[in-house]
Amino acid sequence: MRREGSRNRFSSTRDGATGQQYFSVNSGNCSHGQGPACGLSALTPGRGWLKAPALTRAADHPWATEVLAALEPSAAGTAAPRERTLGCASEWLRRSIPVVIPTETVYGLAAPALDRQAVAAIFAIKQRPLDNPLIAHVARLEQLELLGVRLSRMAEQLVQAFWPGPLTLVLPTSKEMPWVTAGLDSIAVRQPRHAFACSLIERVGPLAAPSANRSGLPSPTRASHVLQDLNGRVPLIVDGGELEHGLESTVLDVRGPAPVLLRPGAVSTEAIEASCRCAVRLPQAGGTVRSPGMKYRHYSPRAQLRLYPPLAGDARAARQLASDARELRAQGRRVAAIVREPVAGVERLILLPSEPRQVARQLFHWLRELDDQGMDCVLVEGVPAQGVGRAIMDRLQRAASHVQSAEAPVASIEVP
Ligand code: TXA
Ligand code: MG
Repeated sequence: MRREGSRNRFSSTRDGATGQQYFSVNSGNCSHGQGPACGLSALTPGRGWLKAPALTRAADHPWATEVLAALEPSAAGTAAPRERTLGCASEWLRRSIPVVIPTETVYGLAAPALDRQAVAAIFAIKQRPLDNPLIAHVARLEQLELLGVRLSRMAEQLVQAFWPGPLTLVLPTSKEMPWVTAGLDSIAVRQPRHAFACSLIERVGPLAAPSANRSGLPSPTRASHVLQDLNGRVPLIVDGGELEHGLESTVLDVRGPAPVLLRPGAVSTEAIEASCRCAVRLPQAGGTVRSPGMKYRHYSPRAQLRLYPPLAGDARAARQLASDARELRAQGRRVAAIVREPVAGVERLILLPSEPRQVARQLFHWLRELDDQGMDCVLVEGVPAQGVGRAIMDRLQRAASHVQSAEAPVASIEVP
């Protein structure tokens, strides 16, 4: 699959008309096909561009993307990382080229956290706004030192309860790594539980990795999703199949006396509260944005998404959904529904499983699939905002163009 002889060069330019900062990727020649013998032009952004309200843009698509399996099938049923894939991924990373890896939550676009040039390339590839910091992933607690992180007592408790796993902690850092932190004095860290991710981090050190989607699209939970978004933009996608959680990690700021939920995710607020025996605070509506990523429109499919409250016991909402379906069809729009009970007159019907974890696992896949099928409008029944349901509703609300109810279906983090 890989195109032999391709070479990436990342460079940054400023748009004369808008003054915005962009990154671009240009192809060149590579000396061999086995490893990335690519001389990246030095990308040495200073603090200035991190503060700029900038967008990024990758101009070319020079890679013939290779997809390699993450795990070795084994008779015992235990999954071991595939040696060849590990070798290949480490080789690209050592040469400052980001690769896509599976984690237990979503696929990540990974680069060594201490390698400024490699991390800058993540922003170009994903077209990620430069003021949105990344999560640094470690394989062992000792690696936190490399990131200038010391665990507070509360953080230690949470780490004991949830690491390795889908909980990201925002902590102070004594290191200057603006390419990871976007110039903040804190850093987001987590220890993933996926066998491939852990082994790779053991080999190459802490990895900075955002979700491996193009900025603004739903996070990828299958290798095919990554291919849709990043084919030609990365040399390697490590295929870990359908991922365990299908939703991103919970992001928790643990710098103050009480933990603050910055992004609901695969670890529930209830579980965190039970573990640290204190209430988790939600950021104030209209208050300071404490997690830069939350101010961007996220998880959006191409189709218009309309979100309804859980329909059981809400006859008015159920009638509204059915009449919206009819009206949209009458306008000639292609309509899908993701609901617990069948509704008439929609072109595609996805029935919600009763187990919220199953909903979480499939949600981003459904949204991408319905886009592929050319749906114009997706009517979605919400789930109760408890446990992982809070994260599901957070993602749905961000994706929704309209919330179809006089009463807000759930409480969620509100940021301006
Ligand atoms: O499950 C996950 O968390 C996946 C996998 C790959 O680990 N990663 C992920 O990364 O979802 P990303 O970049 O898509 O989302 C990270 C979120 C963003 O909203 C970002 O703004 C926030 O974490 N974040 C990162 N560093 C932060 C910091 N120092 N303070 C506050 N928020 C931070
Ligand atoms: Mg993301």
